[in-house]
Amino acid sequence: MTYILTDEHEMIRQTARDFARNEIAPIAAEFDESGEFPMETIKRMGAMGFMGIEVPEEYGGAGMDALAYVIAVEEISKVDASHGGIMSVNNSLFCHTILRYGSEAQKKKYLTDAASGKIVAAYSLTEPMSGSDASTMRSKAVLENGHYVLNGRKSWVTSGPVADYIVVFMLTDVEEEHKGISAFIVEGDTPGFERGKKEPKLGIRASATSEIVFENCRVPLENRLGEEGQGFIIAMAVLDAGRIGIGAQALGIAQAAYEASLEYVKEREAFGKKIGQFQGTGFKIADMKTRIEASRGLLYSAAMAKEHSKENDQRYTLEASMAKLFASETAMFCAHHAVQIHGAMGYSKEFPVERYFRDAKITEIYEGTSEIQRMVISRLETGLR
Ligand code: CAA
Repeated sequence: MTYILTDEHEMIRQTARDFARNEIAPIAAEFDESGEFPMETIKRMGAMGFMGIEVPEEYGGAGMDALAYVIAVEEISKVDASHGGIMSVNNSLFCHTILRYGSEAQKKKYLTDAASGKIVAAYSLTEPMSGSDASTMRSKAVLENGHYVLNGRKSWVTSGPVADYIVVFMLTDVEEEHKGISAFIVEGDTPGFERGKKEPKLGIRASATSEIVFENCRVPLENRLGEEGQGFIIAMAVLDAGRIGIGAQALGIAQAAYEASLEYVKEREAFGKKIGQFQGTGFKIADMKTRIEASRGLLYSAAMAKEHSKENDQRYTLEASMAKLFASETAMFCAHHAVQIHGAMGYSKEFPVERYFRDAKITEIYEGTSEIQRMVISRLETGLR
């Protein structure tokens, strides 16, 4: 498909592609196996502007647009979805949140460090008993003498084991349900803040995930993000941006699975023919390619809606959910076909295809499952709930 991209978009695609090939590809399998967090490459990505792509240069970012962000996340995730996921959370769930809802002082203090890659940042909404039903959270923040005292347990925090700054959502008014939720910026070295054990995961194994625990953790009043009670709206609005990032991560995985398959079907022979000459294989290639291009179209359209929202302040929830839903199911579809096309080679850890298969699954789960995306889309379209 043809898109008219600017020189700036082509430049970021090439820069991200080169960096991923030269710096990430040689270590991706090793870090997947060990589960170690790739701090060195993430820091280098920060220095290149990849950790705060849409953040203005005055706050340490690259000052580019939403489409540039999608393009860069795809290219990084094509080589390693762990790096892509860490990048997406830092960009859309932390930097975007502070940029959109933070005070000038919060931007200067927290955004600049996160966008420039000086530190790694995270976002924490989910709790052990509150996942898709995010408004049912139990963690509480009580205002006492100019500080909020935070208590509770949060789970499945991407970059939780290493993050220096985390946006956290807690109840400030238990009577008010979602209208009683507020958002806070918490520094990782605050007394009363503890990191739980790292989750052993099926995929994106180099991206560290953990619980975080708050026990009388005192956070200054000036670290509240937005107004008291505005937290749920912030969490949801920011997830619209996050879902575009995860869609782009999924697109990268799908593209990688497709490219490996395309090469393989043109080389591998069976029954005296290239396997791509068999209709059963050729149709898989056709379906993968078509779904990938459809995903890319949805993602670029969502990125443009996000870009317009910076001027017209209109929600792009529908575009973001459709793009994430379709791209993540495409990643799973393509990774599944890629393993099948490669046969035993696809099942072997000697080749990256099995990693794509394991990595693809999370994109249908985090930042809103496919079921939640369908719920969001159908509610918006029907007006019913
Ligand atoms: N933008 C702005 N406001 C929004 C919004 C959006 N995208 N979505 C909802 N809202 C507003 C509504 O307009 C409503 O506002 P009012 O009270 O003013 O009317 C309010 O939020 C409540 O909305 P709903 O009644 O629709 O809320 P709900 O409780 O029914 O929940 C939901 C809706 C879509 C199911 C939502 O809970 C949801 O998205 N759940 C999934 C949560 C999720 O994605 N979790 C993953 C977290 S991050 C992660 O995976 C880990 C990580 O580290 C990356």
